[in-house]
Amino acid sequence: MFGNLQALPADPILGLLAKYRQDTNPQKIDLGVGVYKNDAGDVTILDCVKKAEKHRLDTEQTKVYIGPTGSPLFNDEMTKLILGAEHPVLTADRIRTVSTPGGTGALRVAAEFVSRCKSNATIWVSNPTWANHTGLFQASGLTVKEYPYYNYETKTLDFDAMLEALKQVSADDVVLLHACCHNPSGMDLSVEQWQQVVEVAKDVGFTPLIDMAYQGFGDGLEEDAYGLRLMAENVKEMIICSSCSKNFGLYRERIGACSIIGESTTSLDIANSVLLSVVRVIYSMPPAHGAAIVETILTSDELRNQWYQELAEMRDRINGNRQLIVDKLKENGVERDFSFIANQKGMFSFLGITPEQVQQLQDEYSIYMVGSSRMSIAGIASSNIDYFAQSVAKIL
Ligand code: LMR
Repeated sequence: MFGNLQALPADPILGLLAKYRQDTNPQKIDLGVGVYKNDAGDVTILDCVKKAEKHRLDTEQTKVYIGPTGSPLFNDEMTKLILGAEHPVLTADRIRTVSTPGGTGALRVAAEFVSRCKSNATIWVSNPTWANHTGLFQASGLTVKEYPYYNYETKTLDFDAMLEALKQVSADDVVLLHACCHNPSGMDLSVEQWQQVVEVAKDVGFTPLIDMAYQGFGDGLEEDAYGLRLMAENVKEMIICSSCSKNFGLYRERIGACSIIGESTTSLDIANSVLLSVVRVIYSMPPAHGAAIVETILTSDELRNQWYQELAEMRDRINGNRQLIVDKLKENGVERDFSFIANQKGMFSFLGITPEQVQQLQDEYSIYMVGSSRMSIAGIASSNIDYFAQSVAKIL
């Protein structure tokens, strides 16, 4: 049976990590997978997470099954974090949340849920989008189509084209939007642009699926959720996928959430029963450890405040790196304008070089980024920025 299989190439993002680890060049730089690194290049554990884990170790009473919904406390806390505690959708009891194995788990649950609502449904994704979105939705039998998003020439949002495309989608289609820190382009919608997209969603009646994997990495926890919250206030049905991988640094715990917003409590409870049955046939129930850490942090004033601070440190370092990259490229004689990097948000930007130049950076300088030239900004450190800027200057 296995003899029928054809070998597949390594994942474009995760495959890079393996290559980077094998590289023996002491000057190597990893700008591939989206993980936050401190200035020493380490992916450390947040202090608030360490404290929450200790608390958990001391107080945990049982390892009994948790059920497909996951931890109700985590789900409530996540819902409040995403929407804000006073959001009208919460007051009207129009949202249900399940804990999921990471943001990818949330997306897969959402995709299976959509396909139960309408088999072969069409989902529109931004061009470009996270490399795993398309495969993940197709694996659930959805048809994936693209709306214009990033203009590679001007390094800005192709907003008019995006809006026009969204006006043409059908009312029973789903539209995937990135809440903030667009992966891979770093190009986010402004407040005014979100308002226009929400108007189109209302007029057309499509179902928004909002992927929020980086809340707190752009401008702040509240600011980054602006568009999502506005959308939730204005549409009848919506799906939200969120992740604690980045903002809590819980990459390997695999913890995220999938939330559905419905028109009425009755229709929502029916939809939720389907959501739970989707979970049951994929992984039965989510892992509990990551959820326990997050709920401990979010329900303790002390740990929550510490988390705000640690999150702000990560955000500030990334934003500082953005400006540093622009300045250092200039300082090293690069004439091309890279100022767009400083204006973009979150973990990623496209450097805007060709796939051949990306390969050259990897082969000759041991600098690793995704073939599209998406670079993980947090991989830049004071110890490698000069080498990075000099190497880019050379290949340009
Ligand atoms: C990324 O885009 O690098 C991250 O979301 C990690 C992943 O799973 O691809």
